[in-house]
Amino acid sequence: MSKFSKVINPNTIQTIFETAHVEEVVGDFVTLKKRGANYLGLCPFHNEKTPSFSVSPSKGIYKCFGCGKAGNVVGFVMEHEHYSYPEALRYLAKRYTIEIEEEEVTPEMQQELDEKESMLALNSFVSQYFSKNLSDNNEGKAIGLSYLKERDFRESVIQKFELGYALDSWEDYSKHALKNGYSKDVLVETGLSIAKDDKLLDRFKGRVIFPIHNLTGRVIGFGGRILSSEKSKAKYLNSPESDIYNKSKVLYGIYFARNAIVKQNICYLVEGYTDVISMHQAGIENVVSSSGTSLTVDQIKLISRYTTNITILYDGDAAGLKASFRGIDLILEQGMNVKIVLFPEGEDPDSYVRNHTTSEAEDFISGQAVDFIKFKTGILKEETEGDPAGRASLIKDIVLTISKIPDGISRSVYIKECSVLLDVREQTLINELNKHLRQKYRKGLSPEIDLAPIPDVIESQPRNVDIDPLDVSFLENNLARLLLLFGDVIVSVNDDEGNEHEISISDFIIDDLANDGLSFSNDHYKVIVDEIKKAKESERVLATSFFTNHPDPQLSSVVIELISTPYELSDNWEKNKIFVKKEDDDLFNFALSSLMSFKSRLISKKLKSIIVQMKDNQDDAEIFLLQQEFFELKKLANLIDAELNRPFYY
Ligand code: CTP
Ligand code: MN
Repeated sequence: MSKFSKVINPNTIQTIFETAHVEEVVGDFVTLKKRGANYLGLCPFHNEKTPSFSVSPSKGIYKCFGCGKAGNVVGFVMEHEHYSYPEALRYLAKRYTIEIEEEEVTPEMQQELDEKESMLALNSFVSQYFSKNLSDNNEGKAIGLSYLKERDFRESVIQKFELGYALDSWEDYSKHALKNGYSKDVLVETGLSIAKDDKLLDRFKGRVIFPIHNLTGRVIGFGGRILSSEKSKAKYLNSPESDIYNKSKVLYGIYFARNAIVKQNICYLVEGYTDVISMHQAGIENVVSSSGTSLTVDQIKLISRYTTNITILYDGDAAGLKASFRGIDLILEQGMNVKIVLFPEGEDPDSYVRNHTTSEAEDFISGQAVDFIKFKTGILKEETEGDPAGRASLIKDIVLTISKIPDGISRSVYIKECSVLLDVREQTLINELNKHLRQKYRKGLSPEIDLAPIPDVIESQPRNVDIDPLDVSFLENNLARLLLLFGDVIVSVNDDEGNEHEISISDFIIDDLANDGLSFSNDHYKVIVDEIKKAKESERVLATSFFTNHPDPQLSSVVIELISTPYELSDNWEKNKIFVKKEDDDLFNFALSSLMSFKSRLISKKLKSIIVQMKDNQDDAEIFLLQQEFFELKKLANLIDAELNRPFYY
């Protein structure tokens, strides 16, 4: 039985957080010296000679001022040991001899867990049987093992990836499993066997077996490669989807790659099982495969737990290349960086590493890797040579891809590059980009419009020099920080009729944004707002530690980042807080002006984009609509400006 298939009771999780001292847990791995209220040491996550890794026992968090890594005690164990959340909790429970209580599960939940566990147990049993065929069975040795040897797979990777062989028989492993007490139902549910009349037939037959592992290394499915070159049969046969195997959520090789991905801070994405294995054999371990299917958002999110950098390694057949475009857009949409390496005609990563040394392969990859703009332009440019309409659609296509990138600064950088590569005026590209951003906003996909600066509009309004796109996020950070640190502080406010009433800082900020139909652009901040709202509905008050200890490690690290500045983590933690809470009045006024500045910036960005839209637009009806929107926003802007000029009155 796996120890990870049951749910850890929330009380146990709380006990772990309450008991585990961040300075002790970190101290197991890092030599820490006391510095005032905090501890200082050499950062374990990057190379450094002078310590910039700080641990704050009072906040229960660590932060490195060199590389920026920050987190709570569980986050540290996850980061340092590359553990999953439950793995890290179990590690800490052991370290502090806390007894883990498993969640009281309903009979239905228990049954589901039991079913999954039985499927995993069966997979593991059959997988071992397949492996044994390679060493103990004559057919397995003569056919399976010799095939793998022919492909130059060494014993070490055969064992590491638990490769195996399914005998060429209809009723081999199914019978064997039944004899060993595994049930017919489970054999069918895992897809290993197919029920026919009253018989169980083996799905995999005369094939080399590639077990597919989940993040904790358990076998959730299988791929089986045929050995002959019969065209009538599929080269690979894979386990069907099941309760434990969801194709769109796993990546082949992730279990073996995750440590290397973190270490190298980059993940190579290849097409096939054999590419992953051959690269491992060559010592390149930060590699996973989407196994021939098109990349999904869940798979990208899986990678994003370990790195924000993906390099796709393609063997260059034209159909595959075009199919890759969607994957690239998806990666960019997740805010990740993507590069592409094209292999020479007829080569794939598997053949390349077998015919070259590891350092040649590494040089090839780093030398060939291009960003998505160069990649797309390279492919599409030839096609559109001497064809103005084709060229226009190429430009639109690339700008559309750029519009997927959530970060405004990255977008501007790529627009510049695109302008140079395609020899198009930057302004033209910006106009095209803003159209997409505006549309995205209309569809409600992205509530914030973070438009690229628009040079000509700015020139005509010389007094408006506030164009740094960072400023919105700066103002947004301010508000999020207020929510986190002072959300529960009650202040008294006069409403429009002059009546005084009491309101919490968080209600004040959240309600006011909602009233104007505005919201944060940062996804994590949106979650923070949602959590605060949920808590309010159930009349709970959220402490800051609710977020610093949040089970979503990305969220907790964003929060920690937000509330820990170098000043705050210094000895004068309290003294140097950005906002000194002298009186409620000051706090309220600070919240009010932060809110107004944020809204004002957001609105002025929208206004600018509308001006551009109107300029570009030929359609009278659309222009009319834009005008209406413009005047409404302008009204709101005037109100806010008035508000900003009298910060002591609301
Ligand atoms: N694939 C599949 N079913 C097929 C063909 C391919 O599931 N009929 C998936 C497999 O995961 C395979 C990947 O797509 O690993 C890439 O396919 P391909 O390049 O044809 O296979 P390779 O892994 O390169 O296998 P080999 O090197 O043995 O040809
Ligand atoms: Mn191949």
